[in-house]
Amino acid sequence: MIVVCEKCSNRLQVDESRLTGSIKSFSVKCPGCRHSTTVFLSGKARPVEPVSVNENKSPVRAGTTIVITNQKGGVAKTSTSLNLGLSLALSEKRVLLIDFDVQANLTISMGYQNTTSFHNVMNSAGRNLDSALLQTSYPGLWLLPSNKNMVLLSKKYFGKNNYEYILDKALDQVRERFDYIIIDTPPSIEFFTINALTASDLAIVPTQCDYLSTHGVGQVLNIIDLIRKKINPRIKSRVLITMYDEAATASRMIYTKLNSLYSDKMYQTVIPRDERLREAQIMSMPVINYDQKSRSGIQYMALAREIIAGQRIE
Ligand SMILES: Nc1ncnc2c1ncn2[C@@H]1O[C@H](COP(=O)(O)OP(=O)(O)O)[C@@H](O)[C@H]1O
Ligand SMILES: [Mg+2]
Repeated sequence: MIVVCEKCSNRLQVDESRLTGSIKSFSVKCPGCRHSTTVFLSGKARPVEPVSVNENKSPVRAGTTIVITNQKGGVAKTSTSLNLGLSLALSEKRVLLIDFDVQANLTISMGYQNTTSFHNVMNSAGRNLDSALLQTSYPGLWLLPSNKNMVLLSKKYFGKNNYEYILDKALDQVRERFDYIIIDTPPSIEFFTINALTASDLAIVPTQCDYLSTHGVGQVLNIIDLIRKKINPRIKSRVLITMYDEAATASRMIYTKLNSLYSDKMYQTVIPRDERLREAQIMSMPVINYDQKSRSGIQYMALAREIIAGQRIE
């Protein structure tokens, strides 16, 4: 395993065979600058431990549910789910990440494979959501993973009476135990995305600043408006700029345009294009964990603060 020194960015080789037992984290001292970097491991699946209902840590309504959605692929939905999730957990919030995409990119990005999923929950006798939740090695962060069997759920339920409420109803079992529930969705508006929108208080629409993005964002916001009118009156929507390249004139032009079109919906925080995030993904790590001082990691922490502060006001 390669660990990047937080201070001097030196790449350090760690012999994984020496990490035995139930070790969750370890420190590596950089031979160059002598700085110690702590690394949290993506652990194996463990059952969820009971969490006390409310420690009065948070003034935010328990189980605030946030869907990360855009029908366009490659706009950083999965990266935002993972890094916002960890940023909220690092801000002492109890966070459940839900991988609601058959591709299971979020699950894989966290280093898990061959896990149970919401499909297993829906096919079990008691439909007990706890049975599929994994407590990750990141303090405060849980995961409801996905796997390829999830496609069977869509085949079985899509279009049936009240299919939109399946996730919402299941989440009622665990909402009180989490401050935030974050749902990663596929790049299309179908069974999974409609269920996620129905279950959520807030929809975050990540978008790059490219030519067609203003059009695409408008389309997603219209769909969210429709869901608000027909199914879920409490859902709000916000736009998040991702992979922003401030050196590119085209990026700046489209950023200005998005700001003028959706001024009341834009997050102040902008996530920059950052090679560190791509490296972190290869290591199955959130970027904040891979390189705490990375530009994107710092901005995801800022986004978490903006969300927490925003909810106190709303
Ligand atoms: N801030 C960023 N800087 C650089 N690359 C990024 C950034 N955010 C995401 N990416 C890369 O863009 C690609 C698509 O991101 P992903 O989160 O999988 O998008 P989506 O879930 O919308 O399809 C991935 O290869 C990811 O590593
Ligand atoms: Mg994705």
